[in-house]
Amino acid sequence: MKALVLAGGSGTRLRPITHTRAKQLVPVANKPVLFYGLESIASAGVRDVGIVVGDTHAEIEAAVGDGSAFGLRVTYLRQEAPLGLAHAVLIARDYLGDDDFVMYLGDNFIVGGIDGLVERFRSRRPSAQILLTRVSDPSQFGVAELDGQGRVVGLEEKPRTPKSDLALAGVYLFGPEIHEAVAELKPSWRGELEITDAIQWLIESGRAVEPTLISGYWKDTGNVADMLEVNRLVLESLETRSDGDVHDSELIGRVAVEPGATVRRSRVVGPAVIGAGTLISDSYIGPFTSIAGDCRITGSEIEYSIVLARASIDGVRRIEASLIGHDVEVTPAPNTPRAHRLVLGDHSKVQISS
Ligand code: DAU
Repeated sequence: MKALVLAGGSGTRLRPITHTRAKQLVPVANKPVLFYGLESIASAGVRDVGIVVGDTHAEIEAAVGDGSAFGLRVTYLRQEAPLGLAHAVLIARDYLGDDDFVMYLGDNFIVGGIDGLVERFRSRRPSAQILLTRVSDPSQFGVAELDGQGRVVGLEEKPRTPKSDLALAGVYLFGPEIHEAVAELKPSWRGELEITDAIQWLIESGRAVEPTLISGYWKDTGNVADMLEVNRLVLESLETRSDGDVHDSELIGRVAVEPGATVRRSRVVGPAVIGAGTLISDSYIGPFTSIAGDCRITGSEIEYSIVLARASIDGVRRIEASLIGHDVEVTPAPNTPRAHRLVLGDHSKVQISS
C-alpha cells in the first residue's frame, strides 16, 4: 500500500496567513499540521508516500525532505493548479500504479491516527473506504447519504441542502479501481475534478464503498477557529519540560519551554509551548497558546492563540483567540480598546492601543 498526501491547493480561508505559505505547514503546538498526518501514515505501516504539491512546493519540500525523518520514502508530484482532489489522483496515476493507497488531505487532523482504518481496509478490501463524521455545518463538506442498512447510497460535494449531517473526513482508502472512475470525471460546477464524484461513480458501477463512522476527533484546519481548536486539543496532552532559561517567573501546569528560549519576570499558565530561541519577558502567556521559535513577547498578555516564528508583540494587553503570522510586529498605540482578536498575515505590522 502507498499513501497520497495532498499538500497543494491554496488556503483561501486561512488568508492572509497562507497568502505566501503552505497552509499544511501552519503549526499546531509548534509542529506543522502536515507532520501529524505523515506520522499517522508511518504508524500505519505505509512507507511510500507521494506528496502532491503546487505553488508552495519549495516550502513543503524543504520541511519534509526525503521523508526519512518520518521513516518514509517521499516522492513529490507536481500539480500545475489546484484542479481538484480527483485531479491529484489523476496526476499521481503513474506513481500509484495498481497499488492500493490511502489518500490523506494534508490540512486535516485526525486524533488517534489511521492504524485501525488501514487494517480494516486490508481485511475487507472494498473499492473505497470513506471516513464519515457528524458535523453541524455539512454544506461546507462532502456529504454522504446512507440507507437503512448503513450503506452509502449517494455523495454530494458541498451541497446547498445536505441530505445528512455526515461529512466526508479527509482520509480515504482506495483500490486501483478508483483510476477508472477518475478517468470518467468531468469538472464540477466549481471547475474541479471532485473525489466525491469519483466515489459516486464507484457506487453506481456496483463497487463496494464502505463507510466508517468516526466519533473521535477530526478537523479540517482550513480556518482560524479550527486551527485554534486543534492547537488546544494537542496542547492538552503536552509533556511538561523546561529546556530554556527561566528566571523570576512562574510556570503553572503543563508548559514546555524549548531549548534556547528565555522566560523572565513572566507567568505562563499551561498548557502552553514556548519555542526555541523565543524571549518572553514581563508578560502573561495564558492556556492553549503556542509560541513558535525566535519570537519576542515583552510586556504583553496573550492566550488561546498561535504565534508563528519571529513575530514580536510588545506592550499589548490582551490578545486572545488570535493567529499571528511569521515576522509580524504588534505594538501599542494610544487610546484604544481593551481586547483584540487578530488574524495577521506574515510580515504585517500593526499598531494597537493598549
Ligand atoms: O476536509 C474534508 C473535505 O475536504 C471533504 O469533506 C470534501 O469532500 C473535500 O472535497 C475536501 O474539501 P475542501 O474544500 O476542504 O478541500 P480543500 O480545497 O481545502 O483541499 C484539501 C487539501 O487538498 C488541502 O491540503 C489542499 C489539497 N489540494 C486541494 C485541491 C483542490 C491539492 O493538493 N490539490 C487540489 O487540487
